[in-house]
Amino acid sequence: MPVNFTHSALLLSLMLSVGQAQALSQPGPNALATANGIPHPAVIAHRGASFDAPESTAAAYKLARDLGADYLELDLQRSKDGVLFALHDDNLQRTTDVASKFPERKDSPANAFTLAELKTLDAGSWFNSAYPDRARPAYAGLKILTLDEVIDIAQGNPLHKPGLYIETKEPQQFPGIERDLKDKLQDRGWLSPAGSKLAKSELSVGQGKGKVVLQTFDKNSLQMLHKEMPQVPKILLLWIAEGSIEPKSKVKFAESGDKDKATFYARQQPKDNAAFEQWVNDAKALGAIGTGPSATLTHLGDQSYANLVQPWMNQYTHDQGLLVHAYTIDENVDFKKVMDAGVDGIFTNRASELLKYYQRPTTGSVAQLLERNGY
Ligand code: G3P
Ligand code: CA
Repeated sequence: MPVNFTHSALLLSLMLSVGQAQALSQPGPNALATANGIPHPAVIAHRGASFDAPESTAAAYKLARDLGADYLELDLQRSKDGVLFALHDDNLQRTTDVASKFPERKDSPANAFTLAELKTLDAGSWFNSAYPDRARPAYAGLKILTLDEVIDIAQGNPLHKPGLYIETKEPQQFPGIERDLKDKLQDRGWLSPAGSKLAKSELSVGQGKGKVVLQTFDKNSLQMLHKEMPQVPKILLLWIAEGSIEPKSKVKFAESGDKDKATFYARQQPKDNAAFEQWVNDAKALGAIGTGPSATLTHLGDQSYANLVQPWMNQYTHDQGLLVHAYTIDENVDFKKVMDAGVDGIFTNRASELLKYYQRPTTGSVAQLLERNGY
């Protein structure tokens, strides 16, 4: 009937206008990233180019830098004598020869070692044994790096200056690490405003407003990072477990009967939508500009976790005005899945592949760049 039709059409048009106004009033993820000096979509080299070279070493970080990654990702710890350094695991067993150099202390946390002790360790040979097809003689004897040394690498290529994407790892083990990090970044000029003579369009990531991104799984650490460095973009990493996003099932891996952790993680779901949304809301309230959710990988593996990049999750996060940087993804099939689901950047061990996927140029092949750097 004409009258009802007219009313319906008017109502529809009104609803559309309200929706459009809401959409326009909130910057989209691309604009939000740009406002923070963060490329969109972002290539975050997870522990460096750690598929091709031993993680968190000079070989991996120089390769990621020279490939053209936007960010060098690192997990931050503090040595017994107070020096900030890059290492993922709590202890040194998987990625060094601590068992032969310090047999009686091989299970000790990395933070029980002085920097001088850490520097005696070989952080490269394990890679040659674990991945013989990617092994290189020059990886043997690579060292654990201090934050200062990672900064030197980030600044070391005049043609491409990546930013740093720094995680406070197990921050409850390192009281005050947020302040230590601020002091170091300040000393090194990494907290200064862009201040470059270059035009905005010519600024590298590592020279602009988003030159450092801070990340953590720990809400207390996020709060402290925000207090120390309110102007620096921050990401709250997301995980399903008791103490993190509340899981639907309370069954632990050991009791699950699953054959490996990846299978177990792939079945993990938040208890309900609200349990997921709570962490996004907390991220925003504590000063984050985005979240870092885990992803389930098509071929599973050691870095396949719960699927926290479902389209509704990314949409909800965007609706709160936050970005989504997903971890840790290495294959085209999964790059496509998570990009289609709406993420704004990817942590990857294979920066070379992600850059190709985004059709971004690189200055050489992995082998060429490794050789150029002496590996
Ligand atoms: O920092 C993002 C991602 O690296 C989190 O996982 O365990 O590799 O540090 P993890
Ligand atoms: Ca990390």
